[in-house]
Amino acid sequence: MMLIFDAMNILGIETSCDETAVAVVSVAAGRPEIRANLVQSQLAEHAPYGGVVPEIAARAHLDHLQSLIREALAAAGLGFGDLDGVAAAAGPGLIGGLIVGTMAAKGIAWAAGKPFVAVNHLEAHALTARLTDALEFPYLLLLVSGGHSQLLICEGVGAYRQLGATLDDAAGEAFDKSAKLMGLPQPGGPMIAAAARGGNPRRFPLPRPMLGRDGCDFSFSGLKTAIRERAVASDLADPRTVADLAAAVELAICDALVDRTAKAVRVFRDRCPAGASLVAAGGVAANTQLRSRLAALAADFGLAFVSPPPALCTDNGAMIAWAGLERLRLGLSDPLDAPVRPRWPLDPDAHTPKPPR
Ligand code: KG4
Ligand code: ZN
Repeated sequence: MMLIFDAMNILGIETSCDETAVAVVSVAAGRPEIRANLVQSQLAEHAPYGGVVPEIAARAHLDHLQSLIREALAAAGLGFGDLDGVAAAAGPGLIGGLIVGTMAAKGIAWAAGKPFVAVNHLEAHALTARLTDALEFPYLLLLVSGGHSQLLICEGVGAYRQLGATLDDAAGEAFDKSAKLMGLPQPGGPMIAAAARGGNPRRFPLPRPMLGRDGCDFSFSGLKTAIRERAVASDLADPRTVADLAAAVELAICDALVDRTAKAVRVFRDRCPAGASLVAAGGVAANTQLRSRLAALAADFGLAFVSPPPALCTDNGAMIAWAGLERLRLGLSDPLDAPVRPRWPLDPDAHTPKPPR
């Protein structure tokens, strides 16, 4: 049963990777509202190294977090005393950043006498569609981000069954590494999508790892190798070549994601006949091609397709605040000595994906 609280204000802090994000989400008369949602990207700090450097990320979170918290509360017109809880991502992610965010949240919670909620970052992505679309459980979720690619049945807060996961790279990582190989800046996903506009996706045939295989697992490492070979053999100073290769990469990754999701939809229909929705979340779910193809897939199976707006698919504080709110209204909070969890699977019973024989 979903408990409806008349009014709640939650502060959410996200520091698990390379975005420092703070938000305030409120519920009034059962309706959620994002009152503030600030994201400070660290792209510039990491750019010289071609990827996220954990130590630099932790220091940058430390530099930005306090002022972002102050700004978010000011934008929401609230003080610490008006909060009903303080939530922070406690994993999975980079340990330094997780410590910075959770320690800040615990400090505020302790000083203001409010409950602290240790949020699983993946659960926050998983629950965002309930913030934006008031979605009921159960639903099928394609969770695709820079660090994770998973298909899950979401049965309730804290109740997830994994149908498939990646054997190697995550979908976002495949985009990011491909961009790097092609000399495009980070984050690779949006850069490849932009470069692909007008490109011919058929000029460079790329493999489709796992396509048509049983099960719902993903694999992207073979694709990366193929892209490396193409990139080395091609003239990347030619804009047409870059557009064609980018279009081929985007199509190959979307093909793989849609094929695996189609398998999962069949499992979902069997296991949850009452389930009515397919949800996409995580940074890669911001991809326009992926969204439209998943919408078509869902329609083929009579499911509704739900995906948060792109700014709520990529990492943000609102999803953390919302996940905290969902847990608090079920009476769930965490002690101030709760640990951070750099590894924290959503489904503890999930099988470890294995390559097909
Ligand atoms: O969820 P997220 O912001 O951070 C993690 O939890 O990892 O996801 C970031 C990932 C990056 O790999 C980025 O390249 C990818 O999401 N991404 C996209 C798009 N926007 C972000 N991939 C494809 N198309 C996009 N429009
Ligand atoms: Zn994320």
